[in-house]
Amino acid sequence: MNIEKPWSGRFTAPTDAFVEAFTASVSFDQYLSEYDIMGSIAHAQMLAHVGVLTEAECSQIVQSLTEIQEEIKRGDFKWSVALEDVHMNIETRLTQKIGNVGKKLHTGRSRNDQVATDIRLYLRHEIDQISSELTRLLKALADVAEREADTLMPGFTHLQSAQPITFGHHLLAWCEMLLRDRARLQDCRKRVNSMPLGAAALAGTSYPIDRHYTAKRLGFDTIAENSLDAVSDRDFAIEFNASAAIMMMHLSRFSEELVLWSSAQFNFIMLSDAFCTGSSIMPQKKNPDVPELVRGKTGRVYGHLLSLLTLMKSQPLAYNKDNQEDKEPLFDTVDTLKGSLHVFADMIPNMHVQREQMRAAAQRGFTTATDLADYLVGKGIAFRDAHEIVGKAVRYCIDNSCDLDALSLDVFQSFTPLIENDVYERLTLEGSINARDHLGGTAPNQVRAAVQRLRNSL
Ligand code: ARG
Repeated sequence: MNIEKPWSGRFTAPTDAFVEAFTASVSFDQYLSEYDIMGSIAHAQMLAHVGVLTEAECSQIVQSLTEIQEEIKRGDFKWSVALEDVHMNIETRLTQKIGNVGKKLHTGRSRNDQVATDIRLYLRHEIDQISSELTRLLKALADVAEREADTLMPGFTHLQSAQPITFGHHLLAWCEMLLRDRARLQDCRKRVNSMPLGAAALAGTSYPIDRHYTAKRLGFDTIAENSLDAVSDRDFAIEFNASAAIMMMHLSRFSEELVLWSSAQFNFIMLSDAFCTGSSIMPQKKNPDVPELVRGKTGRVYGHLLSLLTLMKSQPLAYNKDNQEDKEPLFDTVDTLKGSLHVFADMIPNMHVQREQMRAAAQRGFTTATDLADYLVGKGIAFRDAHEIVGKAVRYCIDNSCDLDALSLDVFQSFTPLIENDVYERLTLEGSINARDHLGGTAPNQVRAAVQRLRNSL
């Protein structure tokens, strides 16, 4: 192919064909085209504003870039590997369309500040998309938590039955994690939304540019001031990926519970058919593919974080071609996270809760043993002694294959005469959850109040 490269002036030999393909990024950075054009339009307008371009030149450039955007959207744009990347492809097309005026667009700019600007515009947009999926998921969880505020289930530690809780309370634990994730994302957005444009290649430019003007046009809150830092900084991408990794870790834990709970052994929930698949050999199977896949995809997001950290660790200032490797991990992290949140937000409202099964499970495993100890403390026994007495009662129940609330008062009194008839209500599941009636406790009215606070914060 005989396409002239915009930097060909000092070269006498053509690029090796393999090297051309090896160094090109257009196959993936064309994903940034919308933001590249957005940045170029703002740059042209700034150049006109400070008198480096005439108004007529500027409007020709803006008009033509808008047409190019349409060509790309329609799929009519011919991407060329010989033109390396999204930036040179679009600029070359501009010059094809409007001749010499197109060649003026790159005045006072470098691909180094251009690409850094594109990625930040892209990531800012994606953070907003991710935040709204996250909010949609939180709203869905709040609705289910409210509906299931009275639903009893066993709470676990070490995956052993521990104490009764409400399902609403359990769902709200997930909400807390996701709320922190959302806050982390918003905080990261502040550092993403800073404009590198104007740094040019590394040292700034000799033209009388107005960086505040461009920043305002592009909706950047701040300017990445130091020109060396502006073109080489990828902290913002790493920070985003770190937040994404934490979020995926949460979704993965969430997935693990959904997988366990939808098993025949737990049978706490049934995921909707629309979110499961069957087996090609075992006719009875209904597999929880969605949570399994989200759990599996967590690994690639962790991997991308490590890729980006490693990408940056030995780079001298300022821009290095290494940075071209920032895009694929970042794009994949965004798509994976956004997809995972999206599918969860759709799946959660359609999950069926097996209240009877949950309640029956809460009844097993001496989940109100702590309540019995607390009852004894109320009768004046020190907690450590109460713990010991209840431990003996549990041992007795294991040996006699019965539950605590099946013991007669006589048997109870053989452990301590302080136990009276009022013990039985303390041993019920309802008695246990209603007793935990403080800020952050599992009592149904606390759950309902927490749902209200959550809704107010969304
Ligand atoms: N494709 C490059 C990247 O993604 C654009 C910047 C290239 N700059 C340069 N001087 N070669 O990083």
